[in-house]
Amino acid sequence: MSTHHVVPNHHSHHPGFSGVSGLLAAVGFLSGRDNAAKLAIELSKLQSGERLVDVGCGPGVAAHHARALGAEVIGVDPAAVMLRVARVRWRSGAGLDWRKGTAESLPVDDNWAQVVWSLATVHHWADVDRALAEARRVLAPGGRLLVIERRIDDMNASGTASHGWTVEQPEAFAALCRQHGFANVAVGTHAGPTTLLSVLAQ
Ligand SMILES: C[S@@+](CC[C@H](N)C(=O)[O-])C[C@H]1O[C@@H](n2cnc3c(N)ncnc32)[C@H](O)[C@@H]1O
Repeated sequence: MSTHHVVPNHHSHHPGFSGVSGLLAAVGFLSGRDNAAKLAIELSKLQSGERLVDVGCGPGVAAHHARALGAEVIGVDPAAVMLRVARVRWRSGAGLDWRKGTAESLPVDDNWAQVVWSLATVHHWADVDRALAEARRVLAPGGRLLVIERRIDDMNASGTASHGWTVEQPEAFAALCRQHGFANVAVGTHAGPTTLLSVLAQ
């Protein structure tokens, strides 16, 4: 199927998370995220001692899993409420840092990370080209970019049913990764209680 005109970020105009509803969302994102976090570790082959940037980390479940493995982690999110919940739940400290920022402007030094991952977030990115340029900038040579999204049937569905990717969207994102200089780009589908779609780019 043609991926022409399929964008990976159909929720780029989401107003963002704040206030009481943002707090409820942040607390909600503490549950049911372990499978995606474990899949992220498996697919990215994240190792103890490697450096990870979790882009759109939310309240930090996947960042916590990575830290528990022994990785050094920077969690980045634009929503202050997400970072507040992450700090309360997981604390900060050696090897675990929470920073306000966006995929399009990462508060991370050049060549810092071996892995950049973004879970359930690309569908919200404001500007995929800028975000991919940022991922390239913060990744050390040979670094890996991993994106995971929940599979949805219809990006125009209402409510949470539209938050994720249809089966065409990983291919569209993979094509953009290649345009940004990633040489090896693989799309995957992962069965489970929720079907997850992935793009791994190196
Ligand atoms: C559905 S939550 C996922 C949180 C976490 N990654 C997880 O899997 O539990 C989406 C997150 O993306 C963040 N987000 C939205 N736009 C973003 C952007 N342009 N750059 C980085 N993160 C963004 C939101 O603030 C929110 O925390």
